[in-house]
Amino acid sequence: MRLDCFGHKYGLAMTANEFMIDNTSKSKERVVAAKPEKDEEQFDLTLRPKTLKDYIGQEKIKEHLRIFLGAAKKRKEPIEHVLVYGPPGLGKTTLAHVLAHEMGVQIKVTSGPAIERAGDLASLLTNLANNDILFIDEIHRLPRIVEEVLYPSMEDFRFDIVLGKGPGARSVRLDLPHFTLIGATTRIGLVSAPLRDRFGITMRLDYYETEEVEKIITRSAKILTIKINDEAVKEIANRARRTPRIANRLLRRVRDFAEVKGDGAVTIGVAKAALDVLEVDSLGLDRNDRNFLLTLIEKFRGGPVGVSSLAAAASEEEDTIEDIYEPYLMRLGMLARTPKGRVATPLAYEHLGIKGEGKLL
Ligand SMILES: Nc1ncnc2c1ncn2[C@@H]1O[C@H](COP(=O)(O)OP(=O)(O)OP(=O)(O)O)[C@@H](O)[C@H]1O
Ligand SMILES: [Mg+2]
Repeated sequence: MRLDCFGHKYGLAMTANEFMIDNTSKSKERVVAAKPEKDEEQFDLTLRPKTLKDYIGQEKIKEHLRIFLGAAKKRKEPIEHVLVYGPPGLGKTTLAHVLAHEMGVQIKVTSGPAIERAGDLASLLTNLANNDILFIDEIHRLPRIVEEVLYPSMEDFRFDIVLGKGPGARSVRLDLPHFTLIGATTRIGLVSAPLRDRFGITMRLDYYETEEVEKIITRSAKILTIKINDEAVKEIANRARRTPRIANRLLRRVRDFAEVKGDGAVTIGVAKAALDVLEVDSLGLDRNDRNFLLTLIEKFRGGPVGVSSLAAAASEEEDTIEDIYEPYLMRLGMLARTPKGRVATPLAYEHLGIKGEGKLL
């Protein structure tokens, strides 16, 4: 198939096959998905900033962290336990590594579901050195029995382990190194209150400003030696859903496009053409987002409608709607959550070019 639409529009001769995009067959692997793709880990590692100075945006958080880091270093103590939450791809894992680097300590990385038994946690903790960091991703998925033994570990750096069973069982106390726990989650509501309370520092990562996303793209382009001009950087940034991971992914896809097309330089024409083929629109919405909004508008007259009815009508899981679609649409002001249900706002109608009111809230 020859994509004359953008071929003409941007003066590029390009076929869909030449460019590798097949949005239909991979509808579940969305180019604007904030979760990492399978082959993306290597890039994540290459592009991940190592120091607080290189960590772009999130100025308030960085300011607080500088103070905590300064104080901890002065006292030669570990920093307090840190809980960091926010939507996927905003830099939680990156921040944990940055903190380890800034403190000059080792970081051990694990995740909630990977720690199945109390014993797993004991072996992780006893292998740390003083001041080291244990990073538990998806901390909301920690099994309850593990969570309970984690409390005294965090508070008093002790771990009581029961050896044996029945009347012969005895409890042994292990003294732990003074470590820092960094927990990360996309679902703060699912972290139990007692666990939340045991973190000295809680930080919420928010979506980035477009100018910050531009800086991230420029930095990544430099690392990946991609020739790109400012206009193209802006175009990608506008469509990157204010999310660093998506910005980096779009940059790579646009680079691929530029290489297939010719000399590899990313101009505004190349960027627009590539992003149009990817069906990522001017606000970073893809076909799935638009279908989701259309379902809400056409089947439920723009709401209010409960999430379960909406999920059924849109053939999506409720979790997917709450975790993936809603945060960004709400951030854009196209969707609102009201006590009666989800509602499409006038902005959603306007963006989709649909006549109708939308609900003013
Ligand atoms: N502040 C930042 N400055 C520059 N690049 C960043 C920043 N935050 C994140 N990135 C880039 O985005 C990528 C994704 O970030 P990261 O893996 O830390 O997200 P996350 O919040 O842990 O996501 P998830 O919820 O999926 O685990 C990183 O590899 C890094 O290249
Ligand atoms: Mg992460």
